[in-house]
Amino acid sequence: MIKTAVIGADGYLGRRLWNMYRKEYPDCVGTVFSNPRGGLVKFDLHHPDICPLRLEETGHRAVFICAAKSGVTDCEDGPEASYSVNVTGTLDVIRQVGRTSMQVIFPSSDYVFDGRGGRYDDGHPTAPETEYGRQKAAVERALPSLSKNFLVLRLSKIFGTTRGDGTLLDEMAAGLAAGLNITAAPDQYFCPLHVDDFLKAADAVQVRQLTGVMNVAGRERLSRYDLAIRLAGKMNVDSARVRPVRLHDIPSMKGRPRDTSMVCSRLTSEAGFSEITPLSESIRKVAENWKEGPPIQKR
Ligand SMILES: NC(=O)c1ccc[n+]([C@@H]2O[C@H](COP(=O)([O-])OP(=O)(O)OC[C@H]3O[C@@H](n4cnc5c(N)ncnc54)[C@H](OP(=O)(O)O)[C@@H]3O)[C@@H](O)[C@H]2O)c1
Repeated sequence: MIKTAVIGADGYLGRRLWNMYRKEYPDCVGTVFSNPRGGLVKFDLHHPDICPLRLEETGHRAVFICAAKSGVTDCEDGPEASYSVNVTGTLDVIRQVGRTSMQVIFPSSDYVFDGRGGRYDDGHPTAPETEYGRQKAAVERALPSLSKNFLVLRLSKIFGTTRGDGTLLDEMAAGLAAGLNITAAPDQYFCPLHVDDFLKAADAVQVRQLTGVMNVAGRERLSRYDLAIRLAGKMNVDSARVRPVRLHDIPSMKGRPRDTSMVCSRLTSEAGFSEITPLSESIRKVAENWKEGPPIQKR
């Protein structure tokens, strides 16, 4: 494992990455923004300065930037506020890391694609249609001029299988278990990836010292509706309680890319990463979680 500092170590991915790195490097640096807590250093992307973190001096070899305004709707509703964090502040950190010997790692998104064709390979040109996607693409574009040693991990939807984590399957299962009808788009395709696989993939890519842009996604391409139907089946819930609604007929989803499925050629061939948890296993686990009540854990 590579000693890596995590900027934004209190978010969903950042917290898990930091915990992973800390197992091998207990002193690796993690930063926090609004809720300071033990072990994490306060860091604001509005005024980023990595010098006080003394990363190179303490043997860090990489910086993973997980801090972001990560909500697609938040970016759409507040383009300037989100741009100042997701692009201006992020590029400032990248510029600073680029002057050191450390690798900078940036989690991008399948939303950099327009979603018209799907099955995007690592080198497919970006053509974002949302503000969130445009901000991710802007950072991807600028990175090569700011760092000679960068890694873009372009992520699909990442989910967990802990009851109450509020991620993709858990959210659907909570609705179904509460007796609600849920809606899911049959024309929204993606390749969701279990968060534990994301952690293993990040490590595999880092230890091989790979650079450049790499897609990181699950192997199975399916629609959100198909996923919900499979989950309902495992939960023994009537499939009629999953209502198909076309993506752009859901008011909050207007303009979202329809097919962001990705092909992970580099991850497989160069990082040799192929241990991806089958979706059937995650669906079974989440259905099991919601049969009856283990205590709800926080994300
Ligand atoms: N999770 C996914 O499925 C997924 C998929 C594709 C790409 N990504 C990308 O991966 C990255 C991490 O995602 P995530 O799901 O872990 O996001 P997250 O849970 O929303 O975490 C983002 C973190 O950024 C921090 N932050 C916000 N504004 C900040 C500022 N001005 N200065 C410093 N920190 C700030 C937040 O702190 P507070 O909570 O204190 O505000 C939060 O801890 C994001 O770039 C996201 O776009 C994630």
